[in-house]
Amino acid sequence: MDYVVIARKYRPQTFNEVVGQGAIARTLTNAINRSRVAHGFLFTGPSGVGKTTMARILAKALACEQGPTATPCGVCDHCRGIADSRHPDIYEIDAATHNGVDDIRELSENATFSPSLARYRIYILDEVHMLSTQAWNALLKLLEEPPVHVYFIFATTEVDRVPATVVNRCQRFDFRSIELKDIVRRLGEVCAAEKVSVEQSLLVRIARSAGGGMREAQTLLDQLIAMSDGEVSEDDLNLLLGAARSEDIQALIDHLLDGDHGAALGAADHLMGSGVAPTTLVEQLIDYFRQMMLLGACGAEHPAVLRLGPVPETMAKQLSGSGAKDQALRICQVLLAARQTIKHGVEPRLQLEMAVVRIAGMAHMVDYETLLKRVQRLESGASRHP
Ligand SMILES: Nc1ncnc2c1ncn2[C@@H]1O[C@H](COP(=O)(O)OP(=O)(O)OP(=O)(O)O)[C@@H](O)[C@H]1O
Ligand SMILES: [Mg+2]
Ligand SMILES: [Zn+2]
Repeated sequence: MDYVVIARKYRPQTFNEVVGQGAIARTLTNAINRSRVAHGFLFTGPSGVGKTTMARILAKALACEQGPTATPCGVCDHCRGIADSRHPDIYEIDAATHNGVDDIRELSENATFSPSLARYRIYILDEVHMLSTQAWNALLKLLEEPPVHVYFIFATTEVDRVPATVVNRCQRFDFRSIELKDIVRRLGEVCAAEKVSVEQSLLVRIARSAGGGMREAQTLLDQLIAMSDGEVSEDDLNLLLGAARSEDIQALIDHLLDGDHGAALGAADHLMGSGVAPTTLVEQLIDYFRQMMLLGACGAEHPAVLRLGPVPETMAKQLSGSGAKDQALRICQVLLAARQTIKHGVEPRLQLEMAVVRIAGMAHMVDYETLLKRVQRLESGASRHP
């Protein structure tokens, strides 16, 4: 059987299946149910969050044999043709390559003819910010007074580059980045359907590194499954994301907690030398110390701790020292500050080194509890010998 990548295989086919764009799906559903569907739509938002997907579902809703309906059947010739991008009346045009005025003139002329199979001719123009000004001008008249059988759905990641005259003539929908938990849930569904088991904590890391894009997350998952033979491991993901191997990051953490500046800097240096970016390293350290902080605060069974993945064996022991809980919190603060500065592009390597030195230095500081005990001892001694 032909292999289909996950991002395409699991493209939502109904409004309900689209994750994280509920307001848009509801508005479109209502418009269809009330027969108040605009003839021009503008879908904007980041890459891989459902613009093309939603455009195809809208096209199916309009063209379905049972339609117009908010719940297209998915099995009639129209629905299937649209899902496979081969319906003669539904035009999916990549405006990045067909951006000239001639392309658009031809489109405009054809648009006036009646559709061949469906009730409507629907034009889905992707990446429309690439259209030339003349191309837009050629389209504007048609957009102003579209024939009853014509619908336009424009999609773009850069709405600022679409002329205001066009934006004003369309119903605009702003697609949002998808929330982490929604991406994790969807990845979980995909894993179940593909019959592969991947730790929840790995799915969280995939989702986080995809930064709100579902396509990106699904593509990473696809690669991860492809590179691992059967069992998906944490180190497969580390390799994929250019992150440090678990044992290497653990060594660095041990040196940090031992307060061994030299060894910690050496370990960090070695990791960066092997291609791990400072940001990635800081992220991995944050993951560890965040879990340590939460473990210290609320114990191993708490959902806040479990959500971050299985607790490493060493962690409980590291927490047993006096003041270790406060220290985990302080380490998080140092790492977050480093991450923030690195984000602004300021000397990533130096920032990481500074964080390493600060954290290793903490091991040599007397913590609050010990200090308090000493003061108490001193005081009780003083009261006995006035
Ligand atoms: N909201 C979503 N819910 C579920 N899956 C989604 C969603 N958004 C994207 N996907 C998945 O990602 C793939 C790509 O999505 P889509 O083509 O709709 O992105 P897009 O917003 O058009 O991105 P681009 O701007 O890069 O064209 C889909 O096939 C689907 O598997
Ligand atoms: Mg698209
Ligand atoms: Zn149908």
